Amino acid sequence: MKYNGLKGMEDILPPDIAAWQVIEAGARDVFSRYGFQEIRVPILESTDIFIRGIGEATDIVEKEMYTFTDKGNRSVAMRPEGTAPVVRCFVEKNLQTLPSPQKFYYSGPMFRYERPQKGRFRQFYQIGAEAFGVAAPSMDAELIIMLKNLLEVIGLSGLNFEINSIGCAECRPAYRQALLDFFSDKLVEYCPDCQRRYETNPLRILDCKIERCGALRHGAPIVTDYLCESCRKHFDELLSILNAFKVPYTLNPNLVRGLDYYTKTTFEVTSEHLGAQKAVAAGGRYDRLVEEFGGPATPAIGFAVGMERLVSLLKEKQSIELPSPKVFVATLGKESELEGFRIVETLRSHGIWAEQSYGGASLKSQLRRADRLGAEFALIIGDNELKAGKAQWKNLKVKEQGEVAIADITALFAITS
Ligand code: HAM
Repeated sequence: MKYNGLKGMEDILPPDIAAWQVIEAGARDVFSRYGFQEIRVPILESTDIFIRGIGEATDIVEKEMYTFTDKGNRSVAMRPEGTAPVVRCFVEKNLQTLPSPQKFYYSGPMFRYERPQKGRFRQFYQIGAEAFGVAAPSMDAELIIMLKNLLEVIGLSGLNFEINSIGCAECRPAYRQALLDFFSDKLVEYCPDCQRRYETNPLRILDCKIERCGALRHGAPIVTDYLCESCRKHFDELLSILNAFKVPYTLNPNLVRGLDYYTKTTFEVTSEHLGAQKAVAAGGRYDRLVEEFGGPATPAIGFAVGMERLVSLLKEKQSIELPSPKVFVATLGKESELEGFRIVETLRSHGIWAEQSYGGASLKSQLRRADRLGAEFALIIGDNELKAGKAQWKNLKVKEQGEVAIADITALFAITS
């Protein structure tokens, strides 16, 4: 019986894994300089936190959640995103008592039952960052600049930053009404999803990817024209900081995002090289969520990067090579085999990647293996060489060779590293 992986759930293999590790190391490095600490929250959470956090009338909650009833008859969901679990944790563990601002990052798999296509998976990985406790726009700017730095550190500069403000509880009702008025006379021409959204959440119509709906919303009221004074001021201040730091951004008034918890600032980083799924990172402010989850009123903002999409951009920019061993130790004879094993272990303990031959193959086949592994050097030890305390070395890349005293092997390869 042969089994296949599930649709939309990918195996991540070498050499691609090297690109994943570059991004993960870059995130750890950059985030730590901004004071973000790692937290790990579970993959399974109670379904309610996503319904409450992301919103009942969103695509994620309506169609895409991996939800099931566990053996204790509880409805649980495999997290479709990380913000709601982090906020659940923040409230449950009283993290507001830590010195403010509280800054956290996380990484791991997320699950959405979407139609798989290029750049869209059912299991995908995010690295996310969330900052709690600061309402000022300088926090929005810091987060956006940190994201830009992360992208630059991993070798991706020049991506588009799209920015919007979707207002707050005070200004949203007037905008919502303006949208309802605008959409009402052509409602029958919209897709069935948008007709439903008209009732549940008209802002979402601005986000519909169906071409016809896109054409129909031409001339729709623009959210930033409806911002209250405080949201307007916040947005203007954010933009002026981004200008001061020369962050290149474009204003996108249709950037309403697919999750309901956002207030004020929303943003996305996009690349034209990715096709339809062009957002590599996205985020925004969610000043009400901590309170909605039963915590004290706490402003917050965060973002998440999509790992698969970043990896695909990195692979396009540079070929990713499989790492290869420095030394392959080939041996001839029982005694030299044990000595070979010892040399390999010594090299490894000095931080050098060394490989050995397992169990009496011919020299020819051992050297063939060394070649296939891409080893830089082969070290050859026979019983005679062993008696003389010597070994032969061959540089497999430039076809040089020589002899080395067994006692000097570590030094030889440490120097050529
Ligand atoms: P999101 O826009 O749903 O936001 O996802 C963030 C990023 O995850 C997207 O820009 C994309 O790169 C990646 N992504 C999303 N769905 C998929 C998929 N099916 N396959 C591959 N990649 C995908 C959030 O998840 C928010 N929690 C972000 C946030 C954090 N907002 C505030 N804090």
